[in-house]
Amino acid sequence: MKPHRGYKVVFLPEGRQTEIAGGVSLLKAARKAGVKIATRCDGKAGCLMCKVKIEDETAGGVKPPGDIERRKLGSQLNDGVRLACQAIVQGDIRVTVPEDPLKAAVRRRLEEARRGHEDELW
Ligand code: FES
Repeated sequence: MKPHRGYKVVFLPEGRQTEIAGGVSLLKAARKAGVKIATRCDGKAGCLMCKVKIEDETAGGVKPPGDIERRKLGSQLNDGVRLACQAIVQGDIRVTVPEDPLKAAVRRRLEEARRGHEDELW
């Protein structure tokens, strides 16, 4: 029998990916893929910093949320939001990792500066 190849987990927007066995959390998969997800509670569903968004068409790639996750996320679950430390992989999946707010601000500044510079050239 061929060994199971593991599941493919893709992290957007960077598109980094890894293959992992089922039963592993998305947080662990992210670490394996070299994707940084900030945490303060070390994966205990306490800090809510590890929120990610599961792409609709791959929603079956993680196990349904348990009681703790339901309590913590409430209606956000309807938008595909999950806690990476609690969501357990059970199939191929695509996940969007929200951009760090600080990084997003820096990126916007850089884009503005670049655009300003292009305007000067014209
Ligand atoms: S790591 Fe803190 S809630 Fe997931």
